[in-house]
Amino acid sequence: MQQEKSNIRLNERLAASRELLKELFRKLYAGHQYEEQEFEQLVNIIKRAFDQRPEVLKKRDLEKQSGEINPWFLLHSLCGMSLYVDRFCGTLEKVNDHLDYLQSLGVNLVHLMPLFQSPEGESDGGYAVSDFRKIDSRFGTLDDLLRLQKNLQDRDMYLMLDIVLNHTSHHHEWARRARAGEKKYQEFYYFFKDRSIPDEFEKGMPEVFPESSPGNFTWIPESEQWVMTVFHHYQWDLNFSNPAVLCAMLENIFFYANMGVDVLRIDAPAFIWKKPGTTCQNLPEAHLILQIIKQAVQIAAPGMALLGEAIVAPSELMNYFGTDKMKGKECDLAYNATQMALQWDALATADTRVMLAAQHELSKKPRGTSWITYTRCHDDIGLGYEDEMIRFAGYDAYAHRTFLKNFYTGHYPGSPARGTLFGVNEKTGDARISGTLASLCGLEQALLENDDSVIENAICRMILMQAMSFFIGGIPMIFYGDEAGYLNDYTFITDPGKQYDNRWMHRPLINWSKNELTRVDGTIENKIFTSTKKLLDIRKNLNAFADTGNLYWLNTDNNHVAGFIRTDEMNPVCCLFNFKDKQNAIPWQCLNSKGKLPEKFFEHWNKETVIPERESEMMNLESYQFKILTAV
Ligand code: GLC
Repeated sequence: MQQEKSNIRLNERLAASRELLKELFRKLYAGHQYEEQEFEQLVNIIKRAFDQRPEVLKKRDLEKQSGEINPWFLLHSLCGMSLYVDRFCGTLEKVNDHLDYLQSLGVNLVHLMPLFQSPEGESDGGYAVSDFRKIDSRFGTLDDLLRLQKNLQDRDMYLMLDIVLNHTSHHHEWARRARAGEKKYQEFYYFFKDRSIPDEFEKGMPEVFPESSPGNFTWIPESEQWVMTVFHHYQWDLNFSNPAVLCAMLENIFFYANMGVDVLRIDAPAFIWKKPGTTCQNLPEAHLILQIIKQAVQIAAPGMALLGEAIVAPSELMNYFGTDKMKGKECDLAYNATQMALQWDALATADTRVMLAAQHELSKKPRGTSWITYTRCHDDIGLGYEDEMIRFAGYDAYAHRTFLKNFYTGHYPGSPARGTLFGVNEKTGDARISGTLASLCGLEQALLENDDSVIENAICRMILMQAMSFFIGGIPMIFYGDEAGYLNDYTFITDPGKQYDNRWMHRPLINWSKNELTRVDGTIENKIFTSTKKLLDIRKNLNAFADTGNLYWLNTDNNHVAGFIRTDEMNPVCCLFNFKDKQNAIPWQCLNSKGKLPEKFFEHWNKETVIPERESEMMNLESYQFKILTAV
């Protein structure tokens, strides 16, 4: 009976989507030798995935669709944490012992950084996968992962994993067979006999890791050919113009879906289609692939949300939610990398204008989709927003970026930040920034100075940054260690597998006795942890923080202070953030959205009632203060 019902559901969904799937597939592969065959193969993969989907997950799919807030991932009760299992606690099994810790903070979505087999020393933090189905023995086994997933589910927590779509490790079976000369597998990658086509490609392609892996191709002596390697030389780019690659990767996606993954992070989707004469990023075909994946997942595993990790310019970023008739039918979630970088911009300049200039673009996000909002992650901070936005705020784009790089590496006079440049490209002058939230906000330097007020200031900056990213809309994603104030760790320099990549300085090795201090009153760890928790509690208690497309920016009449309203029929919330280390005043009137200023507000951070002072008509915000106000 149950089985019958669910088959009806599959057939209905398949019937509703088959034409669209076919159309998308045809746009990509029309004229391909095996077009028809591969399409049938794709449909069979979807059917098989549904057949194999455990009943408990099918039930969960339905539950996720029937909540008050739909889709489920718009909920304001969600908060994630990204962590490296080995650096957090050792093994998958041990993660179970730390779920209470995560829940006590308010985290209910766990992003386990790549877990699948990846050669040590050539792993790019697990993003060079040599087997998509086998857990790396460093972390445990597949059964350990399934047990953890079950435990999360029993606790009403969610699981997020990566699918590394763009490339495999050069030790993956496909790569090994390609290297050995098997034509079928050479067609899984981009192989070239000489430099003529690679040279054509190179003209348009930027370099992702110019210091450690310059160029986009690697010479393979065994087969005497060049292979495309956009990231590191040991990460071979998959060739999605071959439909067999799409089918094979879709099978891997469903393998993860059927393990109970709730959010699938699609790594580096901007890169999955290549064409000479272009940058080989953000191409229309890359979007078609994502749309096919979305349709397929929607049919067989509709409870799994897709997160596109496209760290690209704001105007490109929006396209990952789908455009035109596919609007809202591509990625469900995307990293709000623009907002993240612009908060760092505002913190350095104490000026919110560049951040505001980007909001016009960001506000185009379709309803029903959402962001991952964050201040730090395992990657560097790129300053990839458009020059136009910087100029709009009255700055020279080149000078402004130079200032930011100097500021966050502590070279600008008076800067409290301690970061390091990453991905310096001597040819273009580009560079990104590595460092932990705490070190970039000045805690590392403050501890050296051993001055309580400087330490306090650094903590205020950290919490201001977190607050804005928690309240702006989307699922907050905390990077592990930031809740306890971890500083940069420079020991990666001594590890040959890591020393070429300074992103390891902000991927901490957790010391649980330090994390225990989060429970000891008066410690720095406790201050940061309890403040982070308090922010999440506020978020959970106010429905306006569900991401229902309800964000409206306020004109605060003060460049140091950013403000927005999250509207809600019952209880709209005004959020104000002072990015300057001085007191600042803004007119109360800027909160007047309906023609009449409420007589009283409740401020949720300090838990106090505030009454607008009509005489002065100005509201004060202290240095780095934020206010979360609802009318009472
Ligand atoms: C993504 C990951 C990054 C990795 C790259 C290549 O951007 O976040 O860590 O180096 O993809 O897989």
